[in-house]
Amino acid sequence: MTTLNDYFQSYLTATSADSSSKQSAVVDVINTITAVGKEITELLRKGALADIHGEAGAENVQGEQQKKLDVIANNLLLEALTANKHCAGVASEELDDATPANESGELLVLFDPLDGSSNIDINMPTGTIFSILPHSNKGQAATNAEFLQKGTEQLAAGYLLYGSSAMLAFTFSEALDTNNDGVLLFSLNPTTGEFELVKKNISIDADTKEYAINASNARHWLPPMQQYINELLAGTTGPRGKNFNTRWVAAMVGDVHRILCRGGIFIYPKDTKDPNKAGKLRLMYEANPMSLLIERAGGASTDAIKRIMDYEPTNIHQRVPVVLGAKNEVEYVQKLHQQA
Ligand code: F6P
Ligand code: MN
Repeated sequence: MTTLNDYFQSYLTATSADSSSKQSAVVDVINTITAVGKEITELLRKGALADIHGEAGAENVQGEQQKKLDVIANNLLLEALTANKHCAGVASEELDDATPANESGELLVLFDPLDGSSNIDINMPTGTIFSILPHSNKGQAATNAEFLQKGTEQLAAGYLLYGSSAMLAFTFSEALDTNNDGVLLFSLNPTTGEFELVKKNISIDADTKEYAINASNARHWLPPMQQYINELLAGTTGPRGKNFNTRWVAAMVGDVHRILCRGGIFIYPKDTKDPNKAGKLRLMYEANPMSLLIERAGGASTDAIKRIMDYEPTNIHQRVPVVLGAKNEVEYVQKLHQQA
């Protein structure tokens, strides 16, 4: 059995990283996030008894009602990360602006504190998504502008899934993954309180028969997306010549986890409901970290036309359409959009 601590120790030894290296800073930040993840797990386990359900009475920057646990998770992460000496700034999906942290820090951390928060009250999966970027202006506190880096710049990304068990999935960037372990999956042992390694080098099949999309928005999708889903619905009687199955967790973290475990495609497409919104999901807190995981597991992640991690962000709360998962399937969606 390999615990997360064992894994990090051997990783740092193998990379001969000293305590001031980028690798050890990233490891330290992931440790801070997982420690908070354990606290959130505890609160969720107590459920209704911990008085975490219901609305907190506030709206977040996206104009959505915040749940009590959104606020709690956000505050716990903010407090822990701003106290981490490697962290120069923190950006949260729930806060208008980035919070400057330690001037000597070499990292920036972004997070969605509680993804899929409409699942809290019904005892369904939620999660915490994180992304770690380099901070080049060392010696200066980080502002929003410093966070506007492409997804390809991420040093590491991952999520904690609060499901029937709590799990941690993360990956280092290719450059930092000196052990070539790719995407790693750990499970929280409730008896010891330690994350234990379940799998490494997770790999997503290029083909799939399973897709995730909220089809109640179908009438608002662009024609190529409508065509794509109609083809899947036609099954063996349509051009794809096989039957497909739908799954929708209503928490991106749950759908991405399923794809890492058994493949599939996840789509939150562009729609015409609100011309001011390019998509529902957030580039910096959701799309980029999930794209790093998916690509490092051999999958693909696009906005239906171009690669998500190539986006030059213009705003820390920017939204993007997302099509990610099985490589051949994502490329098929892309082909339909490029032909249109
Ligand atoms: O964070 C946004 C989010 O909750 C995702 O986690 C999830 O995939 C999606 O929204 C669910 O959207 P809908 O409400 O359309 O099912
Ligand atoms: Mn979310």
